[in-house]
Amino acid sequence: MAPPILRQGVFITFEGGEGAGKSTLIEQVASQLASQGYHVVKTREPGSTFLGEHIRSLLLDHSERVVSPYSELCLFLAARAQHIQEVITPSLEQRKIVLCDRFNDSTIAYQGAARGLGLEKVEHVCNFICQGVQPHLTLYLDIDPAIGLSRARGDSPQKIGEHDLDRIESEGIEFHRLIREAFREIHEKDPTRFRLLDASRPQPVVTAEAMQAIRAQL
Ligand SMILES: Nc1ncnc2c1ncn2[C@@H]1O[C@H](COP(=O)(O)OP(=O)(O)OP(=O)(O)O)[C@@H](O)[C@H]1O
Ligand SMILES: [Mg+2]
Repeated sequence: MAPPILRQGVFITFEGGEGAGKSTLIEQVASQLASQGYHVVKTREPGSTFLGEHIRSLLLDHSERVVSPYSELCLFLAARAQHIQEVITPSLEQRKIVLCDRFNDSTIAYQGAARGLGLEKVEHVCNFICQGVQPHLTLYLDIDPAIGLSRARGDSPQKIGEHDLDRIESEGIEFHRLIREAFREIHEKDPTRFRLLDASRPQPVVTAEAMQAIRAQL
């Protein structure tokens, strides 16, 4: 069978709180799309470039040093600008499907809402550094943060996600609740692009719904 030809690259982002199932879903979606012959690029933020991976380790480092919310925002944006130039734009120009683990909506929810910098201000700077590169579709995995955090810690039966919580994951539950509220607000404003998936359901059910939304976009 001839590989499917896309008229343009498709940029899909995956959002949600800690342990919602983003990385698991990306793996599932990528393998299903690849088995159908699509050219898929899996990528993540912050990271996926030399500069971005260095910034990621600075941002997630556990040390007790205080990071100003503004510094944190600038570091995420620096990683993003590099990621867009080195990975996202070239892949879209090659008409690939780009599956990106976190993007602007995480910055708006984490730095804008939970860190208190303001949703609209953060959205504005995100748009500035993205220079028009925006996801065609965002799959938001909605889950109670208490459940997500316990999955991230490896309390889930599969234990695949088992790891020590990083600097941001280690924030209190109220911080994670603000993030969920902000994501839900983004969904209410733009339900077509920012699709809400109930991530408390079994993983195959979530993947099936995600694939349905993606197929509609291709
Ligand atoms: N729908 C689901 N139901 C139950 N467990 C799930 C589901 N989806 C993922 N998991 C499990 O939850 C854990 C965390 O999943 P995953 O690492 O994909 O989340 P994440 O959103 O990428 O987390 P992080 O924010 O830490 O990157 C893994 O052990 C995974 O197997
Ligand atoms: Mg992950």
